Amino acid sequence: MADLYALVSAGGSPGVTTAALALAFGWPGSVIVAECDPSGGSVLAGTLAGHLPGGPGLMEHAIEAGRNPAAAAAGLASQLVSLDAKRTRMLLPGLTDPRQAAGLSAAWPAVASSLSAQPCDVIADCGRLDAGTGGPVAVIFAASTVAVVLRPTLRQAWAARPRIEMLTQLLGGTGRIVLLLTGTGTYPPREIAGALGLEVAASLPDDPRSAAALSDGERRRGRASTGKLMTAATGAGQALRKHAAALAGDQAIAPAPVLAETGLAVPDWGAGR
Ligand SMILES: Nc1ncnc2c1ncn2[C@@H]1O[C@H](COP(=O)(O)OP(=O)(O)OP(=O)(O)O)[C@@H](O)[C@H]1O
Ligand SMILES: [Mg+2]
Repeated sequence: MADLYALVSAGGSPGVTTAALALAFGWPGSVIVAECDPSGGSVLAGTLAGHLPGGPGLMEHAIEAGRNPAAAAAGLASQLVSLDAKRTRMLLPGLTDPRQAAGLSAAWPAVASSLSAQPCDVIADCGRLDAGTGGPVAVIFAASTVAVVLRPTLRQAWAARPRIEMLTQLLGGTGRIVLLLTGTGTYPPREIAGALGLEVAASLPDDPRSAAALSDGERRRGRASTGKLMTAATGAGQALRKHAAALAGDQAIAPAPVLAETGLAVPDWGAGR
């Protein structure tokens, strides 16, 4: 069964987009990276330097999904661009302008349904989790596993705590939430896990060279297959898949989120996964 994985941050650019790409390049089979960050996508300009905005992607898919959700889900492939020569790692390019996010808010449920309906795993870069409207809350809600990406520092743990509370209320518990640590910090993983009350699924090391190849297309563009970041990302992917698989048997429907408590403006999208 294909799974949807949502990556979110509490802010401070911990490396969510880089982690999504590193996971994808270490994924064993076909996978789609979906750029759902409302502040805009960066992979076309970064990793795939040279592509011009305005082609296929999330916005076009959302417009199509508003007209005909089933057709849009079935036709998502036409909105993807390839991250590798074999076309096993595909990208749903994100917004090209943060002003588009306001217009997208009503479409997130349909986008979440499309991503959930894909025949392969999807890694959704959901960007920074904030209270209010316009965020890809429906995508997070539909995910099998939600990874909160943060650097192991007090500042990031501090910022993560209220977001984890929001997620916990949205998802009806912490079962689907894990931590994904990036880079070096001041605290060991077990202390971060203890402080935030969540399992650390994996830690991605500080590896500026490999990270720049992924985030900015520097030097080894499109083939960041070596280096300690990629080795760790392959293991991180295994940990995330293991987490999703462990939950798969537990099909209990999460209780409906209490909007006033979550601080998230959740549209009416019906039942989640
Ligand atoms: N593991 C890492 N080691 C070293 N540098 C990293 C690592 N991960 C990311 N970076 C670097 O940190 C910067 C931010 O990364 P990235 O764009 O992935 O963050 P983000 O959380 O997606 O940020 P934003 O909130 O702007 O979307 C980039 O320059 C990237 O190369
Ligand atoms: Mg990003």
